[in-house]
Parts: sequence; C-alpha cells; structure tokens
Amino acid sequence: MAFQRIVVIGGGVMGQGISRVVAATGTEVTLVEQNEELAKRAMEGIGEHMDREIEKWGLTSSEKKAILSRITPKWDVKEAAKVRMVIESIQEDIEAKKALFRRLDEICKPNTVLVTNTSTLSITEIAAASNRPDKVIGMHFLNPVEKIPLAEVVRGLKTSDETFTTIKQFASELGKTVISVSEYPGYVTTRIIVPMLNEAMHVLMEGIAEAEDIDTAIKLGFGLNIGPLSLADRMGLDEVMSWMENLLKELSEHKYNPCPLLRKMVRAGHLGVKTGRGFFKYDEEGNRIREERIDELKTL
Ligand code: NAI
Repeated sequence: MAFQRIVVIGGGVMGQGISRVVAATGTEVTLVEQNEELAKRAMEGIGEHMDREIEKWGLTSSEKKAILSRITPKWDVKEAAKVRMVIESIQEDIEAKKALFRRLDEICKPNTVLVTNTSTLSITEIAAASNRPDKVIGMHFLNPVEKIPLAEVVRGLKTSDETFTTIKQFASELGKTVISVSEYPGYVTTRIIVPMLNEAMHVLMEGIAEAEDIDTAIKLGFGLNIGPLSLADRMGLDEVMSWMENLLKELSEHKYNPCPLLRKMVRAGHLGVKTGRGFFKYDEEGNRIREERIDELKTL
C-alpha cells in the first residue's frame, strides 16, 4: 500500500467499516471520534462486528486481533497532521463537513489528500471549503464495507488527475472494483437506490402489502439478496432521509421527497438496525427478530 498510516474521521457505521477494511490490508489507521467515549464505542463496534463473523467461520480470532492492533482510537482531529491521507465519514451534513474540511486544511500537510465518503453531497462544495480543492475527492463505499466489493471514486470540478489516480489505486488495493464518477448529486448508486427505497415505503404506508412481503417480492422477483426495507434499516433511516433531502434540494424532483412514513419513523427514533428498530426489529447484534410484526407502523 502507498500509505503506511491513514486517519479516518467519524466512527459510525461507515467509519468502522472503512477502518477495518483498511487495517486488514496492513495499513495503520487512526480512527478519530468526537470524544473518548465515542472512540471507545467505535472500537467495540468493530470488535463485535468481527465476533459475529468469527461465529459464522468467516474470520479467525487471529485475523481479528491483527486488524484491531492496527486501529488506534483518538479524539483529536490534529492526528490528521501526521498522515498523507484522511478519510472523512461523519454524518451527511454539508455544513458539518465543510467546517471539518476547513479545519483539516489548516492542520494537514500541504500534500495530504482529503477524501470524503459522502453519499450525496457535492465534492466541489466540500473541496471549496479548503485551499486544496485539487486534493479533495470522494471515495464512496457501501455498507457493509467489508462485504460490498464496490467503491465509487468521485471527482469534484477541481480534483487533479494525480489525486484521482492515487485514490483509484488505493480503492483497488482494498479489493474494491472501482467505478469513476463525475460529480452529480447521488452519483450512481445512491441516485438509483433511493427512489426504490422511497417507493417501497409508500407501498407500505398505503397498506398495499406488509413489510415482510414487500421485501420478499422485490428479493425473489428481481433476484436481489436483500429487500428495500431491510436495506434501508441497514443503511440507517436518518441517513436515508438525509440523502433524499439532499437529492430533492439539488434536483427538485418529487421522486426524492421522503415518504411521510420515513419522516415519522426518524422523528420517533426508529432508525433501523442501529437502534434495534426500523421497518423490522433487531437484537443487540443486529439480527432480525422475526416473530414480531410491527403493527404500530401504521399508526406512527
Ligand atoms: P453515523 O451517523 O453512523 O456516524 C457518523 C459518526 O461521525 C458519529 O459516530 C459521530 O460521532 C462522528 N462525528 C461527527 N462529527 C465528527 C467530528 N467532527 N469528528 C469526529 N467524529 C465525528 O453515519 P454513517 O452512516 O457512518 O455515515 C457517514 C457518512 O458515510 C455519511 O456521509 C453517509 O452519507 C456516508 N455513507 C453512509 C452509508 C450507510 O449505509 N450508512 C453508505 C455509504 C456512505
């Protein structure tokens, strides 16, 4: 790998997955969260995720140990001064991301590449918050990062060829098939999947079929390995809603207007796997609790 150590900022669903995948290739990772407690929780999350794979014989304890030994939790963004690549994976909020890139630009060495994992926001706009827009780029992984073999490498208007080639190479070394995208809201994956998730929520809200049957229909009908409502639960309903709102704002297309049921669920704190409840219920390890039907959905 071209980078001996990188910094990942944000230890949520995606930051944990990215840290783990990078560390598995032998690169050291500093995982930066907002405070010590959250950094500790992110490390526990990575460990627990791997424990579940060990139980299913998908990983060995020694692999887990080696991966964890290469991830150092921290809670000071100044760690970014020590590396040549930073991957940002904080929540999908343009102002928060711009503030972070402004700060990173002050802290980092002039040749450090700043990468964002944003799903829908403008790379050009994030890059403009820094004085190095040529070294800012999108590398959009999908969840779960260790399982989905794809990365969209997204160029902003001023991203240099050198930055693009470096990041494309980096993503390939992580074992990802890379597709190149010119910046446009939602890129390829989010843009196409979001209307399908929204439509599945409308079908549920309108009482046309139950959640389980909607997922079964789409899975079996189109040969997919996950249904849209389970997928939304896995992505995080708050994240999905913010993607829709960003796409709606950028493209003014009604199809991105979040389904009222989604809004209600987010307001109620039912965010999917991460809170144990979304369109379906989940245990602490993220496994579906199948016997329970969530009838209250309609009255939310
Ligand atoms: P999340 O909400 O699970 O995690 C975000 C984390 O960032 C939180 O733990 C928060 O404490 C931390 N954070 C916020 N500000 C910070 C700061 N200044 N310094 C350090 N840590 C900070 O979000 P998630 O789902 O991991 O998404 C992160 C990014 O990845 C978003 O841009 C999202 O659009 C993108 N993404 C999400 C996917 C998904 O399926 N959830 C798929 C692909 C991309």
